[in-house]
Parts: sequence; structure tokens; C-alpha cells
Amino acid sequence: MNFPQRTHTCGDLNLVHAETTVTLNAWVHRARNQGGVVFLTLRDRYGFVQVVVDERSPAGLLERAAELKNEWCVALTGQVKPRPEAMRNAKMATGDIEVVAHDVVILSQAPVLPFPIEDENKANENLRLEYRYLDLRSPGMRDRLVLRDKVTWTARQYLHSQGFLEIETPTFIKSTPEGARDFLVPSRTNPGKFYALPQSPQLYKQLLMVGGLDKYFQIARCYRDEDARGDRQPEFTQIDVEMSFCTAEDIYRLMEGMMREIFRETLGYDLAVPFARLPYDTAIDLYGSDKPDLRFGMPMQDFSPYVAGSGFQAFESVLSAGGAVKALVVPQAGEIASRKKITEWEETAKTYGAKGLAWMKVASGTLEGGVAKFFQADQAKILSGLSAQDGDVILLVADRYKTACTALGAVRLKAGRELGLADPNAFAFAWIVDFPLFEFNEEEARWEPAHHMFTMPQAQYLATFDTDPGPVKGDLYDLVCNGLELASGSIRIHDPAIQQRLFNTVGFPPEEAQKRFGFLLKAFQYGPPPHGGIAPGLDRLVMILTQQETIREVIAFPKNTTGASPMDNSPSEVDLLQLKDLHLKVDL
Ligand code: AMO
Ligand code: AMP
Repeated sequence: MNFPQRTHTCGDLNLVHAETTVTLNAWVHRARNQGGVVFLTLRDRYGFVQVVVDERSPAGLLERAAELKNEWCVALTGQVKPRPEAMRNAKMATGDIEVVAHDVVILSQAPVLPFPIEDENKANENLRLEYRYLDLRSPGMRDRLVLRDKVTWTARQYLHSQGFLEIETPTFIKSTPEGARDFLVPSRTNPGKFYALPQSPQLYKQLLMVGGLDKYFQIARCYRDEDARGDRQPEFTQIDVEMSFCTAEDIYRLMEGMMREIFRETLGYDLAVPFARLPYDTAIDLYGSDKPDLRFGMPMQDFSPYVAGSGFQAFESVLSAGGAVKALVVPQAGEIASRKKITEWEETAKTYGAKGLAWMKVASGTLEGGVAKFFQADQAKILSGLSAQDGDVILLVADRYKTACTALGAVRLKAGRELGLADPNAFAFAWIVDFPLFEFNEEEARWEPAHHMFTMPQAQYLATFDTDPGPVKGDLYDLVCNGLELASGSIRIHDPAIQQRLFNTVGFPPEEAQKRFGFLLKAFQYGPPPHGGIAPGLDRLVMILTQQETIREVIAFPKNTTGASPMDNSPSEVDLLQLKDLHLKVDL
């Protein structure tokens, strides 16, 4: 099709172009017919511009322009004119000018839309996803994808400047347990056998280090068959990094540099480095989370010193059973801490396993309400010990240590955000370090890797990590920001004997380990270098940069909360013939 090709884009035009004849290829964003004058707002990726069709336009054009409907795609030629002073629109980038139309060619038409194209689409999310190509026309979605492109571009440039090579790893791989469930791909040519889609390029990037490539990165798609949530998708993207002959310090420096560049390039924001470091145990003790929101303080405190002799049975019995009582002083919460609000907070605590949420208010230097009657004798000690002031509310959870921390930590997060303590424009980064290497799976009564099973135990545990897994800390680290886990990484095991001991610990004796990871153990016989790496989640990073609540807002074609795409209706049934080719039968 021949059509008048654009000479400019809609966002380009300003007074410099006055009297120039221009051609635009764009969509009709709005059309207003005022009888004798048609105003069109045209839109393309670069912006908006106002077009006027009036008596200055050629005869007959007005009638044709009156036919134009929203979201028709047009080629429009006209002359740029300064708007009269009084008509200038300071809110519009091109608001000093308008284009007086000379001709319009309709490139394509559109029926009535399922939703209007606005800055932010307010339609139901499944409808947005069904018509994602229309949703993408909204400036909000466009801006986020433009920013996302800037992030990947900046990461690539930065990592290149540091000597990293971008290398692709396969997406059809051997299924190896890595934490989540694998997506499987049946092999037609090998009946009964399956590839897995990678949960991450973990083993391949380690093999690249054995291959001597020294510094690797990849903007890598990862696939995990887990339930979608706000910050989780079944397929997502990592900025995956691995390097040889490094320590954790090298990885911290590299990532701090990369984040600084990304924040500067995308937001013009000057990120302070180095990031704070917080041992895992401290994070749990103070904030009840390994991804604390550090935009505000309000740490939890130990309430156990005040329990003995109080007569509060619920607390005393927990302590005598070896549990803990944690306290949270919510500052100046008097106004929002109604009974109803406290009940809400209690529900939150309960979803994290707490049996209840006890409370007291501080007024005129005394404890009032809730469980205050048990603590009258120790009032002064409690107030000064917890640094509680008039107007504060003290929230308490008694339980097993970890449960008490986690449950009250969840209340801290909720209350802190509700009280407006988390500045929406702040970015509170921190490294969480000294993670436990193993977690005990109560249900299956066995040790599991807390991160993945290729992480090196810290040096002081090398002799004992397999005989006494509980206290072992790993050489592993997470980068957190504003309550999200942004990245995870570790220094890896490169000694096949240590790797086998670790496999033993998590339930893969030599034969089993050979079957699943034989290729890795084999490679590790051939002079593997010490190595380590990290993988920031790209989607979460863009979500933080654009202050979104879900990562679906920063992905062009995400899945909905049930893991489906309302646009193409995937996942879908397939022809029996296709299944037959793959030697598969469906048995529901
Ligand atoms: P991990 O499993 O912690 O580590 O993942 C690293 C980062 O990827 C992001 N992420 C996700 N983003 C969106 N949806 C998901 N379902 C999802 N799962 C993870 C998070 C997370 O911090 N191979 C190791 C990294 C390494 O050790 O180098 C790994 O994949 O931002
Ligand atoms: P009860 O003595 O059971 O009536 O509880 C009095 C208050 O203490 C209620 O607000 C409960 O929610 C709270 N409570 C009970 N058990 C616990 C616990 N283990 N930790 C924190 N609060 C609790």
C-alpha cells in the first residue's frame, strides 16, 4: 500500500516547525466535531498533537474528517501553525502549535473500543489483557515499556563496560530440581522423554565458568510452574550474571554500580552506594522478614523481660515453652488504631500463624486498654525499655520465635504503610547476608537448600555442614528494595566432593546425584574456577522504578492470576494428532 509517509512524529512538533508542511502517521485519539470545525487529537508512540480541519482546509476535507472515529489509523498532511496566545496549552508538549489539515488518508479503521485509551487504563484487568494491543496504546503502558527498554539497555552497556559477555543458554534443558516446579516439553523424537524449560540458567552459567568464559551475563527468560502473584509470573526475566575468581564483595560492587547506572539513566535518581548490609538473623529479629521494607524503621523489640509475673497466661506459657514475645511500638497510631483497625492487624498476624495480637495504648505516661491490666506494675520499665510515648500503640505477639517475628513483622509492614511511613518516592536498598544454607522441611522431615544447592557454605562450616546443617550460613546474599526481593545470588561450590556432600544433605545420595546432576559433577572434575553470581529480576526492578503494585504492569504480554492469557487463550487444548506425535495421552 502506498501512503504518505510521516515526515515528523506527533510528539516532535513545536514553534520551530511553524509554517512547515508535515505528514503524520498516527491514531485518532479524540475527534470532536464542532460544526464547521473538526478538532482531532492525533497520537503516536511519541506524543499527541492537535489537528484542526476548518475553512483553511481544502473543500470537502471537513466532511471526510467528520467521519473519522477514535483509533482509526491515518496519514495526515497539514501545515503547522502557532496557536493564538490564548489557545496555547501548557499541559501539552505540543500545546503551542496545531496542524491545519490539508489531506487525510485513512490507513485502517476500528470498531467501538472495549475501553477508552487513557493515560492509565481503568478497565478490568482481564479485559485489558484480552485487548492488550489496545492497552499498550495507553501512555502509561507505553512509558513503562520505554523505561524497561532503558533498563535492559543500560544493564547491557554497563556489564559490557565491565568485561561481561552476553551469552545465550538453552531453553530446552534437563529437568533438575531447583526449587519450583518445571514446565516440561515432550520430545517427539525421543518417545517418553521430556525437556524442561529452565527455572533459571543456573547450571549453564556455572558451566560457562568451567568453560573459561570468565564473565557472563544474559537477559534470560526463566520459567517456573508456580502460582502467579503480584510480583510473580510463570515466565519472567532475569539479568543473569556469573563471574569467575570473585568474592561476594566483587558481586556487591558490580551490582551497586549497575543499579546506580540504571537509576541515573531511567529516573535521573542518584542512588546512594554502597547499600546497607543486614544479616538475615537481624532482619528476622527486627523486621520479621528476609525482605524488609527499610523505607521506615519501627523495628520489633523483645517483650519477654516484662512477662514473668504479669499473670498473662497466654504469654507466660509461650515463654516457658521456649518461645518469644515480640513487641511493636506503632508511633502516634492513636488516631488510626481503632478497635476495627486492630482487628484487621490481628487478622494479618493470624494469617502468618499467630494465635492473636495483644495491644495496649500509651496515654499520659500509662498503659491503657487491651492487655494493659497485666502490666501495670512494670509500666515505667516497659515504657522506657520500649521507648514508647504518649499516643503510641504497643502490639504484641507471643509464639515460637520465628512465628512471632514473621507474624508481627507482617503487621509492621501493613501498619507502617498505612501510617504513611513508607515514602513512595524513596528506594531503600539493602543486602541481606549470612543466610542459613538449609531450611528444615517439617512436612517431609528433611533439610532443603534455602536458596539452591550450588551455594557454598561459609568457610567456618565447611567441616560440619553435612553433619549439623541447622546453624550453617551460606555464602549467599539477596538484594532487597522497598520490601521486595530484587535479586539473589551466591558464591558457588566448585569442588565436586563438597557438592556431593551437599547433595547428600538434601537427600541426593551419590547414585541419585549422578542421575540428576552427573553432567555438573563431571565438569567439576576438570579444573573448575571458583565462581559466583547473582540474578536481579528485571520485571521486579522495573516494577520498583515505575512504582507499580504488580509486575503485570511492566510486561507487554503477561499471564493473568490463573496463569492464562485472555488474548490468545493459552493454555489451550491441542489436536489429538499433535498429542499422538508426542506419544502422549491426556488422562484427566
Ligand atoms: P532466584 O530464584 O532467587 O535465584 O531468582 C532471582 C530473582 O528473580 C526474580 N524472580 C521472579 N520474578 C518474577 N516472577 C517470578 N516467578 C520470579 N522468581 C524469581 C526475583 C529473584 O530475586 N539462579 C538463581 C540466581 C543466582 O544464584 O545467580 C536464581 O534464579 O527478583
Ligand atoms: P485471651 O486471654 O485469649 O482473651 O486474649 C487476650 C488478648 O490477647 C486477645 O487480644 C488475643 O488476641 C491476645 N492473644 C492471645 N494469645 C496471644 C498470643 N499468643 N500472642 C499475642 N496475642 C495473643
